[in-house]
This record gives sequence, structure tokens and C-alpha cells, in this order.
Amino acid sequence: MIKEITDKGPPRILSGVQPSGKLHLGNYFGAVKQHIALQAEGVCFYFIANYHAMTTIQDAAVMRDNTRDVALDYLALGLDPARAVFFRQSDVPEVTELAWILATVTNMGLLERAVSFKEKIDKGIEASVGLFTYPVLMAADILIYRSNIVPVGKDQVQHLEMTQDMAGKFNRAYGKVFPIPSFRLDKESKVPGTDGQKMSKSYGNTIDIFAEGKPLEKTVMGIKTDSTPLGQPLDPETCNVFALHGLFADDAEKAALAADYRAGRIGYGNAKKLLKGKIDAYFAEARAKRKQLAKDPATVEDILREGGKKARAEAEKTMELVRAAVGLPAVPAAPLQ
Ligand code: ADP
Ligand code: TRP
Repeated sequence: MIKEITDKGPPRILSGVQPSGKLHLGNYFGAVKQHIALQAEGVCFYFIANYHAMTTIQDAAVMRDNTRDVALDYLALGLDPARAVFFRQSDVPEVTELAWILATVTNMGLLERAVSFKEKIDKGIEASVGLFTYPVLMAADILIYRSNIVPVGKDQVQHLEMTQDMAGKFNRAYGKVFPIPSFRLDKESKVPGTDGQKMSKSYGNTIDIFAEGKPLEKTVMGIKTDSTPLGQPLDPETCNVFALHGLFADDAEKAALAADYRAGRIGYGNAKKLLKGKIDAYFAEARAKRKQLAKDPATVEDILREGGKKARAEAEKTMELVRAAVGLPAVPAAPLQ
């Protein structure tokens, strides 16, 4: 008997994050902060996309470390396992089964138009079949949990359109099984890096969220500025330090600092110290929480496993519908242990 799935109730919000190293301010203000806030708006499914990361990471130790790091980061920054289902992609292996099934309704031409595939090859990443079919696995991630809303950055929008295309084609061929998901564009914020370009790991210009003390000081003091001497007016509009400060300050604080800049009452050195103080204060609680969690890997593992179980139960319901729709036999229930 296929269990009935009703698509009523609060919207399902899903997003995946690749375990690709240390989070920086750009990741936080461009993505993570919004993921955390969305916990109040629906049922959130957030997962660590370790299968996807295999297209670029081929070192088991790096994969394990990065996966642990991103789990610690999200939990420290406010992901609440009581409100969101938080898990590793690979804890629900059925997603690879759905990826195969979706591949059979996916046109080669659709994947050939993927911009992110071309960009990755241009960067020197090997053009593996996995990298090419990456959007199919991403569609399976989204559809297997019957997601309604997928918060993503601009670079992922094409993958969402492909997901809509695959879901529509599947539904037309086999009957309506999948709700068609929509994307929610993360707030368009381009956090500048220490050199003024967009902050990005690939430019080596990041300020990491969980850096502190001397290393953080060194990074902040190294933010590029012009060579206006102390006592001269500074232009807040063109200053990276000012832009970064604005991420942490309210309007009154921003206006006061802008006035100090224009009046020549503050130099870049002091503005940088002010910024470091802001970063320290803003992330103090998250840092303390991260340190505490890092000492307790068993708790983190339990959270991920519990999340994995919940996610897998949802995925299994969808797969029962999918297998029936395409004429595959139901997978016999695992024997009770
Ligand atoms: P990176 O460029 O460092 O490799 P990713 O591509 O892994 O970062 O980005 C992960 C998420 O963080 C994406 O949703 C992306 O839109 C967001 N993000 C990354 N850098 C910035 C930035 N400088 N400003 C705003 N958002 C960013
Ligand atoms: N491709 C996404 C990225 O690189 C990560 C991802 C994998 C994802 N599966 C997803 C995002 C499903 C949203 C929904 O950022």
C-alpha cells in the first residue's frame, strides 16, 4: 500500500550546502543567515551535500573534516535541530536512485546548457560524468523531499529551472507525483573581500567567520585601503572597511562613522579596529557554541543521524510513489532487527 502523501501544511524549505571548507562573511550574509531565519517560516530540510562535493574533493580525510566543520558551523550559527531536519546527503542513499530515474527523463541538451558545468571546467575541474549530471542529483535532492521552496544564490537558479523541467517531464510521463518547487533568491548582497573584489574562497580574500584573535586581526588590518594620510577626510562610499562595517552596524552607527570619515576624524587603522570589534561581538556567541560542540562529536553525530532518519522516512514515501508510477516493484521492507 502506498502511503498517502498530502502536500498540505506549512511549506517545505530545502537547501544543500557543499562541505567546501571554512565559511566566510560572504557565505554568512549571502546565505547562511537567511537559511537560519527561514526556520521560522516552514519545515526546513538542510543537508550537507557530500555526494556533490565528490565532484571536487577526492580525499576521504578532507571530506570528513569539511563535513564535520560545516555541521559545527551551521549548528553554532543557529540551526536548530528541533526546528529543521539537518542531515548528510549520503544518509539518504535513495536520492541516488531517484537521480537515476530522473536522468531517464532529462535531455542531454538541458545539461549541456548548464553554465556552472562550463565554469567549473574552465577552472580546471575534471569534466567527470558526475560533474555533468550534478544538476540531476540536485533535482533529486529537491524532489525527493517534495520541497516547495529552495533558497539559493544566483549561481544556482539555472539548476532550479532544470529541476522544474525534470519534475514537469516526469509528471507528464507518469502522472503527477512531484510538486513543482520554486526558488527563493538569497538577498542579493555582494560582500566585498579584503581586496575589494567579491569575497570568495577562490580569490583568497576571505574573512572567516570563526577566525579570531591574532589571525583575524591580521586579516582585518590587511584590508586594502587607499593611502590617504591620517587626519584627512575619507570617502565612506569607496571604502571596503566601511562596507564591511555596515554589515554589523545599524543606520545610526553607519551615519556616525560616515560623518567621522568625511570629517577626517578617523583613520583607516582605527576603522579597522572598530570593524574587528564588531565582528568579535557579532560572532561571540556562535564561537563559544562552536567550541563547545567541537568537544562533543557524539552529540553532533546524533543530530545528523536523527536528521538523516527523518529525511529518509520522507524520501522513502516519495520513492514508493515514484516506483509505483514507473512500474518498478516496491522495495521489500527491511526485516525487523
Ligand atoms: P565561494 O565563492 O567562497 O566558493 P560559495 O560559492 O561556496 O563561496 O558560496 C556559498 C554561498 O555563499 C552561496 O549561496 C553564495 O551565493 C554565497 N556567497 C559566497 N560569497 C559571497 C559574497 N561575497 N557575498 C554574498 N554572498 C556570497
Ligand atoms: N549545488 C548547491 C551549491 O553548490 C548545493 C546543493 C546540492 C543544493 N543540492 C542542492 C542546493 C539542493 C539547493 C538544493 O551551492
